[in-house]
Amino acid sequence: MQPLISAMYKVRQAFIAAIVRSLLRTKSVLQTILNIWISPTILKGEHVDRNGGQREGKMYSEFLREVEREFKSSRETSSLVALSDGLRLQFGESLLDNPMNMLPSYNHQLPTGDERGTFLALDVGGSTFRISLIELSGQKREGFETSILKLDSYKITQDVKKLKGVLFFDWMAERMGETLAGQNEGHDMSKPPLSMGMSWSFPIEQTSLRSGLLLGMGKGFLAAHGLIGQDLGDIIQESCSRKGLNVRLNAIVNDSSATLLSKAYLDQTTRFALILGTGVNAAVHLPVHIFSSPKFGERPASWHEEAKHVIVNTELSMFGGGILPYTRWDRELLSVHPRPEFQPLEHFVSGGYLGEIVRLVLIEGIQTAGLLGGVIPPGLEKEYSLETETLSLMECDPSPTLTKALEVFLSRHPTTHTPSHADLQAIRLIASQVAYRASGVLAAGTHGLWQLRNEAEGISPSDSSHTLVAYNGSVLENYPNFRSSCQRQLDSLVEASGGERGSVELVYAEESSLLGAAVAVACVGG
Ligand code: BGC
Repeated sequence: MQPLISAMYKVRQAFIAAIVRSLLRTKSVLQTILNIWISPTILKGEHVDRNGGQREGKMYSEFLREVEREFKSSRETSSLVALSDGLRLQFGESLLDNPMNMLPSYNHQLPTGDERGTFLALDVGGSTFRISLIELSGQKREGFETSILKLDSYKITQDVKKLKGVLFFDWMAERMGETLAGQNEGHDMSKPPLSMGMSWSFPIEQTSLRSGLLLGMGKGFLAAHGLIGQDLGDIIQESCSRKGLNVRLNAIVNDSSATLLSKAYLDQTTRFALILGTGVNAAVHLPVHIFSSPKFGERPASWHEEAKHVIVNTELSMFGGGILPYTRWDRELLSVHPRPEFQPLEHFVSGGYLGEIVRLVLIEGIQTAGLLGGVIPPGLEKEYSLETETLSLMECDPSPTLTKALEVFLSRHPTTHTPSHADLQAIRLIASQVAYRASGVLAAGTHGLWQLRNEAEGISPSDSSHTLVAYNGSVLENYPNFRSSCQRQLDSLVEASGGERGSVELVYAEESSLLGAAVAVACVGG
């Protein structure tokens, strides 16, 4: 072997041995990279000037340290406590006069668990429209309380998102026509209409159980265009009539409230729900006395006589402006966002944004510190081109070789420069920093709401009973370690405020949007 090749061979051997040793010692990912960092070009067997390689390596490791530093402050319990307190104050202010969030629904009673019947449930999410026939059999049929008899899922493509005004609702009615095709129910006008409930993953100002005024929509939807302030129930009912559907929309609920209802159907102690997928939100069952009266709009006196508590769509996504732990990459994201002030907390935590924050960090790393050999994979310079799902899959790979992570990255971002092992580690490190911060911010939001409810009910944290927080959504369900990190940080926050560790528990609510929509209709007597 020539001396240079032999030296390179030794370097590579030493590198692999170092990885194995380092992994065995289960050091932090960053430490692993820093301790064994070696220029990606050396890994590929290319000749690099020794000093140049070292300089490049230093820049690379410095950059990763810098990333860790930027995200570090949000990891400390004291920062999370401060964030939770700040959010708690903002929630309190909104209970008095904010028309955009802390929106009381009409649901003042939680389900009893005895509701029964077959209902059509609609779930309008951030990227899919799902239509399902659901049978509720009541709690006495343990294990068979709910059955999904039929389920169709329609992708909401970018083109559909861009449909303005009634065009979007006509598209929905057409899809419902497809699902109900071949079934007498829903078409035969001589029969009573099929009773329907809808879970709506956007803000809405409820005006009854079956109606609500359309408010501004996030997630890139243009459906509210020209319709803001109009009755969502009527708009949908009219689109269905135009398509000859014999259906009646009897309940509309936000997806966070649907999640709460679906879990409360099975466990009546549920008072909280969290959604974290493309968007983020929370619903809470709160006493009515903490709201200012204008927040209820015009409601019949009978509603006020009966309602002691109400399910509140908090629109958690809209809080946190000015108090969230912004980094330069968050500010960069906001600088080109069409509505930077609309949903500050969503920008930190939701699946719609995690990928974009990581992409911005990565691009800076590529351009300034030689990540990915200094080559931006074609297309990755485009906003929102790095999906949160890609990172979730890359972080899932448990193998020391990261073969799966490499496969996932290349299948979505083919590039001439094959990412080295260190590159993959770096991407995973950045993603884990961004995701961990998100889980902490979500924990702080949940804790702030828990504190708000304790205060409203006059309960001290130490006396608060075991609290279930029903959760759903792709990030909480699928992003590796997200739920457990969120739970751990929530435990620390509960403990810091005098409560018992573990007393606020995140519990999975399966198919909560659809089931909650069905429960909502059943609660109004179908
Ligand atoms: C919407 C909420 C919704 C949440 C989760 C947010 O962007 O504003 O209404 O509940 O996403 O889907």
